[in-house]
Amino acid sequence: MSPHVPKTEVDDLLHEDRVFEPPLVFKNNANVKDHSLYKQAQKNRVMFWEQCAKRLHWSKPWSKALQWDKPFAKWFVGGKLNASYNCLDRHIKANFGKKTAILWEGENGDERKLTYEEVYLEVNKLANAIKVLGINKGDRVAIYLPMVPEAVFAMLACSRIGAVHTVVFGGFSAEALKDRINDAQAKLLITADGGYRRGSAVALKATADAALLHTPSIQDTIVVKRTGAEVAMKEGRDHWYHDVVRHVPNYCQPEEMDSEDLLFILYTSGTTGKPKGIVHTTGGYLTGVNSTTHWVFDLKPSDVFWCTADVGWVTGHSYIVYGPMSNAATQVIYEGAPDHPQRDRFWKIIEKYKVSIFYTAPTAIRAFMKWGDEWPAGSDLSSLRLLGSVGEPINPEAWMWYYEQIGRHRCPVVDTWWQTETGAIMITTLPGLSAMKPGSAGVPLPGVDAQILNEQGEVIAHGGGFLSLTSPWPSMLRGIWRDPERYQQTYWGKWEGKSYFAGDGTKRDQDGYFWFLGRVDDIMLVAGHNISTAEVESALVDNHMVAEAAVVGVRDDIKGQAIAAFVILKEGHKRGQETEEVLKNHVATKIGAIARPSRVIFTADVPKTRSGKIMRRLLRDVAEGRMLGDVTTLADPAVVALLKDKYDEA
Ligand code: WT7
Repeated sequence: MSPHVPKTEVDDLLHEDRVFEPPLVFKNNANVKDHSLYKQAQKNRVMFWEQCAKRLHWSKPWSKALQWDKPFAKWFVGGKLNASYNCLDRHIKANFGKKTAILWEGENGDERKLTYEEVYLEVNKLANAIKVLGINKGDRVAIYLPMVPEAVFAMLACSRIGAVHTVVFGGFSAEALKDRINDAQAKLLITADGGYRRGSAVALKATADAALLHTPSIQDTIVVKRTGAEVAMKEGRDHWYHDVVRHVPNYCQPEEMDSEDLLFILYTSGTTGKPKGIVHTTGGYLTGVNSTTHWVFDLKPSDVFWCTADVGWVTGHSYIVYGPMSNAATQVIYEGAPDHPQRDRFWKIIEKYKVSIFYTAPTAIRAFMKWGDEWPAGSDLSSLRLLGSVGEPINPEAWMWYYEQIGRHRCPVVDTWWQTETGAIMITTLPGLSAMKPGSAGVPLPGVDAQILNEQGEVIAHGGGFLSLTSPWPSMLRGIWRDPERYQQTYWGKWEGKSYFAGDGTKRDQDGYFWFLGRVDDIMLVAGHNISTAEVESALVDNHMVAEAAVVGVRDDIKGQAIAAFVILKEGHKRGQETEEVLKNHVATKIGAIARPSRVIFTADVPKTRSGKIMRRLLRDVAEGRMLGDVTTLADPAVVALLKDKYDEA
């Protein structure tokens, strides 16, 4: 039986023979030119990963490569290292101190250029300042910042002293920030007065202040001055960034960390309303992101890399901070929106900084397509040599547009499948080696074992099923923060602890290429962001007008999925546009603008199975217009009952 997955056009495409070979010049100079890595990994997977780990600087070697007490892994047991040392000190010692690390551009046109030496100095000072505030190894530090260089400094300063960072995306609401701080029991919050987005200053500190009314664990905050907006500074708690780094020494000894010491916690949506704190440790994670950056992005010393993600997501952790910086990359970081002041902002940035490797999301690519070919056509994109995609399946049409209009047929496209939980890229083609098929992510990387399993956990050779990663890998999550049971149940519960359940539906073709079909659980991918249906439902029922809510992700041309909310109002509340707006805003305030429903559909009943599970497939069919011409029919309980019977049978 194949899992229930949203129907896409993949079925038709599987038989299509649209295959693109990497350009010859790329092949000849690629970091990975042949299949030897795959062969080594096949021969001895663990030994292969040990070779990869040796690309890093260890102050003490490990005694055992892998300890696998399924589902709990320990990699490079006994080894000691420091992540910030590997991203900074090591390069300076190798004479790369003068190399540009960060080319930062603010949305308003501000520019900052920082060499590795300069980043090193900033990180050392901030690390000392954090220590002065009483933060020690193992303590949690929450980071709630716009895309400014200080976000990178803050993460590396934490890892330098062994503090565990938990970055919260700057678009999240006060409530979401509060929940994450409380779950992690963070002692310090690093935030800013604000940041720029589409021309206006976002008041981050004010939002943080609202969160901090209910976060007893927070003792101090450090506030970056970015916009210069007036902010309230609470005496004894709030400190300006520029003040705390002023009178501290320029050097901070990096803490010697055990390979399995925590590096960070990053929250991601689960199938319940409560986000999961995904835990990553030091040695394995760094090994994974360091090697995958080298292979997949083919990074060379002369490259200018640009990953457009926010550091609030795992993509920013792995492919802005730890992957590129542990490889001494030069990279662009941009603060703002792609359409400010005009729809060619990204292309102007590529032209200006001569970006050679560009990594972005399908939702962005689809927006660019819609905006029209003239925007990229008006910029010089000849510096580009490699393109990447991440976050959700890329539809072949968007892939082709990216390849033609941005890559101008010269640049390989790597469609990279991975997750917050996997830490690093797991499935993709290698840009100088493998043929590309638009719409398919490709094959598992060396050292990664992936299979398609059916409901019973049996391996499916070519058909459709659930993706499973069948051997431990170094950058795998080590658990869910303070919730080992949920870890076991979410990722290992499906097949009685035998295999990792990723939550993705996928198919494999005759060449072994994976074609991803979307999530098979109650997690939506809205503009590439994980949002759980339960989280939005609980935000809705939190409103005094709402009796019950059921949320589904429906297909959207730009965002991949958009949120549709079926809502039952309490007696005495009127349906209509005004209520709809109130409810949409309520969700945006509770979670963040990314979770704002695009549609609210008022109903008299929400169809549920006999065991009380919301029948989301029915609702999806309704919302996408497949089931009923007019969703108002759902207001009639008799119709709902009829529909339910139909779906119960199916
Ligand atoms: C989910 C993980 C990976 C970093 C950003 C998202 C979907 C991600 C792809 C891709 C098809 C993809 C999956 C996955 N996904 N990349 N190239 N093709 N689907 O991390 O928020 O943890 O989301 O994103 O459904 O499970 P995340």
